[in-house]
Amino acid sequence: MQSIVSYPDRGVGGKSSYRGNCSPRLINDLIDQFSIQDISDYMCGSGTTEDVARQRGITSHCYDLNRGFDLLTMDIPERNQFIFWHPPYGDMVVYAGSQYSAEEIKEKYGIDALKSDLSHMKDWGRFVEAMNYCMIKQFASLEPGGRIAVLMGDMKRKGKLYSMLFDIVKPGTMENIVIKAQHNCWSDTRTYSGKFIPIVHEYLLICRKDEPLLVPLRMTVSTQSDIRDLKAPTWKDVLVSVLRTMNGPATLNDLYHAIEGHKKAENAKFWRGKVRQTLYVYPNVFSSDKCGAWKLAA
Ligand SMILES: C[S@@+](CC[C@H](N)C(=O)[O-])C[C@H]1O[C@@H](n2cnc3c(N)ncnc32)[C@H](O)[C@@H]1O
Repeated sequence: MQSIVSYPDRGVGGKSSYRGNCSPRLINDLIDQFSIQDISDYMCGSGTTEDVARQRGITSHCYDLNRGFDLLTMDIPERNQFIFWHPPYGDMVVYAGSQYSAEEIKEKYGIDALKSDLSHMKDWGRFVEAMNYCMIKQFASLEPGGRIAVLMGDMKRKGKLYSMLFDIVKPGTMENIVIKAQHNCWSDTRTYSGKFIPIVHEYLLICRKDEPLLVPLRMTVSTQSDIRDLKAPTWKDVLVSVLRTMNGPATLNDLYHAIEGHKKAENAKFWRGKVRQTLYVYPNVFSSDKCGAWKLAA
């Protein structure tokens, strides 16, 4: 196995008709790479992991909501050496009620699949929260030295990237990120226009558990800052940004007023002087009219 994998020929196992299924050849490569004798998959979908394990003569423990197992609410029965996890890609492909009947799952197992299915979580924040809960729950079931390999992708909506790889919590030791080229996916038939870059890859994140008690965690934190409160931006960039929010030319007092009280001003002793100096030093960026009001140079 190398850090980029590509399986144009899907291989045998699972069901290619089950949307979002994965290539059995990936599972095969993982079995070879990590000499796996025992593999678990708690969102096994069409049973690709199970089929490959059978072909290879190794033990597997495979579950899914479609078989009456809810990873969000039910206990993981095993202690694990290797978990393959292929969660839904947000709500890009919906499972319960689409790939299988939610009513049947309710009748047979008493589970409200529409509530538990991660692919029904339309709000990205809620999806990430559920995904991270599942990640830690599975990681906790690993024996020291055990691994979890997570296959996931990115989504683009209205010009914004929603990246599972970025937002997923990474427990333990991050061992590898493998790029997997995508083939024969439903979106291949679509034509895209403009600046849209079609996504033709997925990621396989591999995390290893080294310690029984301590769980190192890496996670993405999203915040929003005002440029006037950040350390790195220069005075030029702060002033340009302030001027962009003003309706028309601004007097020095207007500019002082807009900056006063922010960290940029608090951190410079003679900050008013710095404002004046910056305005004069960049005639290509700032210009003043006869009354001494400032605007952005054309
Ligand atoms: C991307 S598919 C897995 C495809 C699989 N690797 C294959 O090759 O067929 C994701 C699966 O997660 C399952 N799932 C979603 N939420 C779940 C939950 N809370 N508990 C268990 N399975 C869940 C869905 O039913 C779906 O089958």
